Amino acid sequence: MNVLPYRIRSPRKYNVSNPNPPELISEAAIQKRVTELAEQISADYADRGDVVLIGVLKGSFIFLADLSRQLTIPRTIEFIAVSSYGAGSQSGAVRLVMDVRGNIEGRHVLIIEDIVDTGHTLSYLIGMLKSHGPASIRTCTLLHKAERAEVDVEIDYVGFGIGDEWVVGYGLDYAEENRTLPYIGNVQPTD
Ligand code: IMP
Ligand code: MG
Repeated sequence: MNVLPYRIRSPRKYNVSNPNPPELISEAAIQKRVTELAEQISADYADRGDVVLIGVLKGSFIFLADLSRQLTIPRTIEFIAVSSYGAGSQSGAVRLVMDVRGNIEGRHVLIIEDIVDTGHTLSYLIGMLKSHGPASIRTCTLLHKAERAEVDVEIDYVGFGIGDEWVVGYGLDYAEENRTLPYIGNVQPTD
């Protein structure tokens, strides 16, 4: 059995090889919330012209695909990839792995994240993308672990707030497993 530590500061271990983890948020609940978010974003951006959706790889790819297709405003898609220094690192240092390809200068940017945990990744991304000179930057995340926040970062659109637990599915993984689950499940502690 493949067991990896969740965080250095957490002594708990998680079973990562369950193909059917227990359901936390159903497929229907996700779809309903994605529709609501798309309606809200479409209304908010109606008078702004077009928006560039920047999906944070890899975790946001399914959320971005579903959300972007339900928007009623002109939109284009970009991707960005980051990684944290060292798995389970407490430093919060984030490294850019792949920058956006298109020019976002003067454009309205909406960052699409799968989950905001400590907030370091989103905080880094906002700062980095600001240097490209966009007209505006807003943030959207499917999931938010508010109680884990370490940095103060503004989130404009949140799908669901969750507790301090590791979740998988709908794009999110644990050690690359469970990304294509249609629902959000939580990975159970094994001790
Ligand atoms: P942060 O920088 O601590 O906010 O971490 C954000 C990133 O950590 C997310 O974009 C995810 O890639 C990953 N992450 C944090 N919590 C989870 C989780 O419960 N499941 C899967 N990935 C997570
Ligand atoms: Mg991510």
